[in-house]
Amino acid sequence: LSGKKVLITLGGTREAIDPVRFISNHSSGKMGMALAHASIQAGAKTTLIVGSISIGLEKRAEIIEVISAEEMYQAVMKRIESQDLFISCAAVADFRPKKVSKNKIKKNNQSMSIELIENRDILASVCQLNKKPICIGFAAETENFIENAKIKLKQKRCDAILLNDISNTEIGLNSDENELHLITKNNSYKIKQNTKQIVAEKIINKLADYFFTSS
Ligand code: PMT
Repeated sequence: LSGKKVLITLGGTREAIDPVRFISNHSSGKMGMALAHASIQAGAKTTLIVGSISIGLEKRAEIIEVISAEEMYQAVMKRIESQDLFISCAAVADFRPKKVSKNKIKKNNQSMSIELIENRDILASVCQLNKKPICIGFAAETENFIENAKIKLKQKRCDAILLNDISNTEIGLNSDENELHLITKNNSYKIKQNTKQIVAEKIINKLADYFFTSS
């Protein structure tokens, strides 16, 4: 990927409820950071849009830290035009509270509910741009794996999807290892269970061969 520009989103987003509470998920940022190491090793100028993570930052990358899905959307859109490859590894919250309370919500011995509204889909928005990079999405699934991943590939109109099983606690979300299927319109490759770093290196090699090597 020498001379190429790669933008990766990673980590979870935090959607505020009030000044002290938020909705989020268990993404650690390990998969995205492993992809960042592999992308830099492959020679790419790498930019990271980082949500909430529980690991150290890759110092050789350009880093933009964000909190919410909307901030991540703005940060991606501001930089996407000049990129060659976009990898959407972040676990972006699909919903956010409709109203963010200015003050800490008090309990009053009654049940309460929070109305949620949908966040913008960052990956799908990038895939709709006229001048867009090669777009790689993830599919974090717990059932009907290949079928659901193919639906995401089609609906979001990306170039490939990396499918992982997040119901298995040994791999995927917040673990040190992963197993992925790289799914394109016409092909599917399995990358067997290994450390996230090894898996990331295999993915980056595969993407470089598939999308950037002219035969
Ligand atoms: O961070 P780790 O602990 O290492 O875990 C890695 C991971 C499990 C988070 C990662 O491998 C992964 O699967 N990331 C995608 C998580 C996810 O949000 O999947 P999804 O199937 O809900 O979304 C599909 C795709 O759309 C993803 O590329 C996602 O980044 C993107 N998306 C989703 C919603 C939204 N509003 N905007 C988006 O861009």
